[in-house]
Amino acid sequence: KKKDTVPWFPRSIQELDRFANQILSYGAELDADHPGFKDPVYRARRKEFADIAYNYRHGQPIPRVTYTEEEKKTWGTVFRELKNLYPTHACYEHNHVFPLLEKYCGFREDNIPQLEDVSKFLQTCTGFRLRPVAGLLSSRDFLAGLAFRVFHSTQYIRHASKPMYTPEPDICHELLGHVPLFADPSFAQFSQVYWFTVEFGLCKEGDSLKAYGAGLLSSFGELQYCLSNKPEIRPLDLEKTSVQMYNVTEFQPIYYVAESFNDVKEKLRKFAQTIPRPFSVRYNPYTQRIEVLDN
Ligand code: TRP
Ligand code: FE
Repeated sequence: KKKDTVPWFPRSIQELDRFANQILSYGAELDADHPGFKDPVYRARRKEFADIAYNYRHGQPIPRVTYTEEEKKTWGTVFRELKNLYPTHACYEHNHVFPLLEKYCGFREDNIPQLEDVSKFLQTCTGFRLRPVAGLLSSRDFLAGLAFRVFHSTQYIRHASKPMYTPEPDICHELLGHVPLFADPSFAQFSQVYWFTVEFGLCKEGDSLKAYGAGLLSSFGELQYCLSNKPEIRPLDLEKTSVQMYNVTEFQPIYYVAESFNDVKEKLRKFAQTIPRPFSVRYNPYTQRIEVLDN
């Protein structure tokens, strides 16, 4: 049967436990110029976070972490710099949700919020939940999580020496970049053709351009750069972005601009219909299972 040619994918939310370990790791896929690579204290700390993620099973509360003074200081710098930029650089929806996170989830300069608290909050907003992950997953695994409204989230923080930009996702990226938009019901609906939208997308707002991509909203270096005249700006075209190569560890040379969130969603629906596959799938939120439907 044709169906057997499609690689394994999780059909139930518990099956997400199977792939939490397959991550981009430093030393191997991440270059030796990673700012934490030569710091044994940082590497040992990362191991502690990796263990939490490896041992986590669906349904458990996400273990709380006591962050060190140095980690809190890094968060403070990132938080303060980004908060200054958001009113002018971030899209409307992000600015709209941010005060709620300050009010309900402990988003403050002197506090790194706990994933468990944020996960609870998101569940009440849009049904999204978080689960801890030790680093960058493959696109396939990461997107499979989103099908169940599960967002894989790192829990460690970037190296203290480079708060402005880091070559892999960290808790600043998840909490400041992704979480605000996962709390927005309209945005929460679309999460495919991911790189040039959810991670690094720009959108029009009246006559100006604003950032809504989480990779921009979590890097105060790239957030300023993306709205400068240095990068190339193109209109969003999913046929192109779906095959466009990109580097995950440097500022992006090209950004794609959406007309609006609704416009991206429409484009995405149309585009998804052109992808050939031998069956269709539907998410059943009551059982938290993916149902496979024969065409
Ligand atoms: N550069 C981002 C930051 O500084 C983090 C990041 C690195 C990232 N690689 C990524 C984010 C890939 C999304 C996807 O916050
Ligand atoms: Fe991300």
